[in-house]
Amino acid sequence: MMSKRIVVLISGNGSNLQAIIDACEAKQIAGDVVGVISNKADVYGLERAANHNIESAVISHRDFESREAYDVELAHAIDKFEADLVVLAGFMRILTPQFTEKFAGRMLNIHPSLLPKYQGLNTHQRAIDAGDTEHGVSVHFVTAELDGGPVVLQAKVPVFPEDSADDLASRVHEQEHRIYPLVVNWFVDGRLSVADHNGQQVAVLDNNILGSAGYSPE
Ligand code: GAR
Repeated sequence: MMSKRIVVLISGNGSNLQAIIDACEAKQIAGDVVGVISNKADVYGLERAANHNIESAVISHRDFESREAYDVELAHAIDKFEADLVVLAGFMRILTPQFTEKFAGRMLNIHPSLLPKYQGLNTHQRAIDAGDTEHGVSVHFVTAELDGGPVVLQAKVPVFPEDSADDLASRVHEQEHRIYPLVVNWFVDGRLSVADHNGQQVAVLDNNILGSAGYSPE
């Protein structure tokens, strides 16, 4: 089987990108990161790509007049890499429906909350402010609904009374780096897909429809 071509979109540090690159190099993912695209120049994630001789591109949102025009160019860049899978890893942009439709069923995102809780920004502080004792991270397929596509896998972490948002973020990050490569591998192995079930989009793993919290051994 041909190795799958993975394109990763970032806006910053790229620690999830690193986890995925490392898993590919360790053959834990049957694919290769063939391209990295950032909407910001000078972010550390681009250095990570360069360190592994992975081609990268910067497409700055400042150069475009509309979200639609930006997304057309972004889609073009992804197509140039001949991507089998698009991985959003801290890519902090709202995507147009045209874009999400084009990559439907082959685009994943990681979001630092137990979705459907805390869509959007500042998730760690919001979990603390709400007095939650449990927080976590979700990997999901991307649909037109922001942070709303079918969840594939979640990981939970405890919230301790003395936690700052940074404490909690680093606890969540550790889990992100475990679960994202796992889910990417499920996809490139052909075990994971999206299907329509009674008019609703669902994630399917090994022919089993996953529930709203995704795959869980519990
Ligand atoms: C991660 O915590 C990811 O869950 C979050 O951005 C961070 C990127 O870190 N994504 C979102 O908030 C998306 N809405 P990284 O650049 O070190 O991978």
